[in-house]
Amino acid sequence: MSRIAYVNGSYRDMRDACVNIEDRGYQFADGVYEVCEIRDGRLVDMPRHMARLQRSLSELRIAMPMPLPSLSVVMHEVVRRNRVTYGIVYLQITRGVARRDHGFPARPVPPGVVVTARSLNFAKNQATAAAGIRVATMPDNRWARVDIKSVALLPNVLAKQAARDRGAYEAWYVDGDGFVTEGASSNAWIVTRDGRAVTRPLSHRILAGITRDVVMQVLAELQIRLEERPFTPAEAKEAAEAFVTSASQIVMPVVAIDDAAIGNGEPGAVSRRLREQFHRFSVFS
Ligand code: PDD
Repeated sequence: MSRIAYVNGSYRDMRDACVNIEDRGYQFADGVYEVCEIRDGRLVDMPRHMARLQRSLSELRIAMPMPLPSLSVVMHEVVRRNRVTYGIVYLQITRGVARRDHGFPARPVPPGVVVTARSLNFAKNQATAAAGIRVATMPDNRWARVDIKSVALLPNVLAKQAARDRGAYEAWYVDGDGFVTEGASSNAWIVTRDGRAVTRPLSHRILAGITRDVVMQVLAELQIRLEERPFTPAEAKEAAEAFVTSASQIVMPVVAIDDAAIGNGEPGAVSRRLREQFHRFSVFS
């Protein structure tokens, strides 16, 4: 079955879908994106993803390309046309097409909009979660506004590849003060030996993950204490558990950081419980 993308007003076969070479997303990474999980053919936590999208756009002074309900219709339609029951939907909005000049276009141009969707392998993801993943730490070399979900992901691309080259699944960034910021495409968590879940507080130095937000609700419901504070790789290596959160992985247990096994080297009970309970707290549409 051929895949269908929404590109600037029409639904196209992916093989024919294209954007202008002077789209500022292509030339300057001048755009933002969102990734939502799809479960049973429905979009997970859309209202929160749309709120974050609006914030990212306004921080970059890019206009909302269409009203939110219309954007939601397009995203659902792309999911439907691609017959995705489990997977992700990707939305990208750029500043649009203009002759290459670093400053914003003198006259406003319509933002560029692309939506794609693809299936993920549920059994494979469950198997990955059952085994747990390894993470590799490395210096955080990104710009100072990673709270904006911009498509400028080159440092993240290089970090992810460096992790893979070291046999790890995810990178954990470490800031200049020696504290973990987040993963290359996820938020970072540990569980202390006395059962407190710890993650870094929101700031310009991390992305405000939607999954992170929902996990906080799950923690409250399960009466697990939450501490929003920075932690070091050394503390993480001594922790009872570690895990990462993101829309595509939900709660993914971490069993090793660099060469140190976490806990007994298997996914921890808290991480597994959070993963199991997560979708009870999600909003489906
Ligand atoms: N990544 N931090 C970074 C740097 C991310 O790229 C992501 C998401 C997260 C988690 O955010 P959320 O829970 O809203 O997915 C944190 C997406 C999935 C991606 O780039 O594919």
